[in-house]
Amino acid sequence: MKVAVLGAAGGIGQALSLLLKTQLPAGTELALYDVAPVVPGVAVDLSHIPTDVKVEGFGKDDLDKALAGCDIVLIPAGVPRKPGMDRSDLFNINAGIVKNLVDAVADNCPKACLCIITNPVNTTVAIAAETLKAKGVYDKNKLFGVTTLDVIRAETFVGNLRGLNPANVHVPVIGGHSGTTILPLLSQVEGVEFTDEEVASLTTRIQNAGTEVVEAKAGGGSATLSMGQAAARFCLSLVSAMRGENVVEYTYVETNSDDAQFFSHPVRLGKNGVEEILPYGELSDFEQKAKESMLEGLRGDIKLGVEFVNN
Ligand code: NAD
Ligand code: LMR
Repeated sequence: MKVAVLGAAGGIGQALSLLLKTQLPAGTELALYDVAPVVPGVAVDLSHIPTDVKVEGFGKDDLDKALAGCDIVLIPAGVPRKPGMDRSDLFNINAGIVKNLVDAVADNCPKACLCIITNPVNTTVAIAAETLKAKGVYDKNKLFGVTTLDVIRAETFVGNLRGLNPANVHVPVIGGHSGTTILPLLSQVEGVEFTDEEVASLTTRIQNAGTEVVEAKAGGGSATLSMGQAAARFCLSLVSAMRGENVVEYTYVETNSDDAQFFSHPVRLGKNGVEEILPYGELSDFEQKAKESMLEGLRGDIKLGVEFVNN
């Protein structure tokens, strides 16, 4: 098994690479690519950790080598938000970065599972899909927008509110990954009841949690450590599924449902990526209204990505 992290020298990239070096199964190769000159050093640093995961760093001219033979590619390359910005403000820089990297994925490892972390995820996943289509190698079962951070935040906030161990709390989060497109399904949290006020305030907090971190970092970037953990969880789930285990994660995939072309659903992962897109179940009135009022925005975000590649 070979896993590549593109943008491996960044805040997310380094945290994610550390977690993968310590948690990937023995025998896995971990390829770290970045345009930043520090990337070989990040690889050397990690290589001193005593696990049976072989780490190699690849500089800006070696993207093809980094990707050769990959089974899973994770992309956190690109710029993060500063206070006052929306994720959509990152489009102008990050759209081109994602497109170029996905072009290289299509050329070097077209059968790899591709996990997009770079924002705005609602749009960059559509860019990745159109880029792969243009190269004739798109497989909708192998493209994922990583929305796991919304899930782990929701689990943490609910656990903290109720005095429960967050590790034992499960909160479905559907939709997209920005503002109101992030839709936690608090009505489906087993064993926990919420008042209407709690539902409203928890939903808003989960939707704005990225901004909470951006403001707390005061110009120093956005979530990197919690995102590293979230992306590692998603990647390790994918690895387990590829090795035959039964794993379900919430992730932003092509559904072609009435909601939107891409939408976060519970997804059963398997040897070839998406094995089954599961229904997200019954919504409360609050959730139904929240879903209806965000769909137009989400569809617009997706359209922007489709048009970026095709025009
Ligand atoms: P960062 O600035 O710390 O790191 C980004 C890295 O990408 C840098 O090392 C940079 O050199 C590298 N890079 C830039 N262009 C590249 C290219 N063409 N090829 C390879 N590497 C390239 O940023 P970060 O905090 O790690 O965030 C990265 C992205 O992830 C941002 O767009 C951010 O908004 C997004 N993000 C997404 C989620 C999510 O839930 N999906 C969560 C947090 C952050
Ligand atoms: C997050 O949710 O933390 C990320 O999408 C980064 C951001 O810009 O908020």
